[in-house]
Amino acid sequence: MSKFITFEGVDGAGKSTHLAWFADALRQHGPDVLVTREPGGTPLGEQLREILLNQPMSIGTEALLMFAARLEHIEQVIKPALQAGKWVISDRFSDASFAYQGGGRGLDWSKLSQLEQWVHPDLQPDLTLFFDVPVEVARQRLTNNNASLDRFEQEQADFFERVRAGYHKRVQQNLRRYIVIDAAQPMDAVKQKLEKIILSL
Ligand code: TYD
Repeated sequence: MSKFITFEGVDGAGKSTHLAWFADALRQHGPDVLVTREPGGTPLGEQLREILLNQPMSIGTEALLMFAARLEHIEQVIKPALQAGKWVISDRFSDASFAYQGGGRGLDWSKLSQLEQWVHPDLQPDLTLFFDVPVEVARQRLTNNNASLDRFEQEQADFFERVRAGYHKRVQQNLRRYIVIDAAQPMDAVKQKLEKIILSL
């Protein structure tokens, strides 16, 4: 049976590295795995990503564009793949909008719930892995990695504290679909945890 799995965490938590490893390990057990990401995942979504990561805009616009990209992603990629029996792993999904636009930027949680209801009333991840790490550790990893920082990554520590708190709130509201992973541990310890998760799936 196909599954929809999402990866979440503050910038610098290491989720993208772990995602690549997880997808490869999962494929070795047989499933046809599609890896995708948000914002993005479709040609239009990738154009919106470019704008979202670089162009200053109001908070409401940011939330609406995130969900616009998401609607496209769901209709063009996620649902067709699940219907074809594939497993879909997405690097971020709506939890990121609650954490970043809700927690980080302070947009009303209820507005985000309305958008979620509109854009995917009948779809939620089967499983969400939340890579949780203290903000100082995540900041350190981001600055060690020489890549240039996007509009979100350039935010200050207090923004990321609010993002992290937003994720924690979302976890509390959706305990059954979440696994919280301590991403401050060494990579190997995280991999061992991921291996166990794969076996349980
Ligand atoms: P990220 O997933 O961290 O990609 P990369 O590892 O390539 O930098 O980048 C996406 C950024 O978009 C990240 O800073 C979080 C932000 N974001 C939101 O603010 N809201 C959302 O709904 C989504 C999906 C992402």
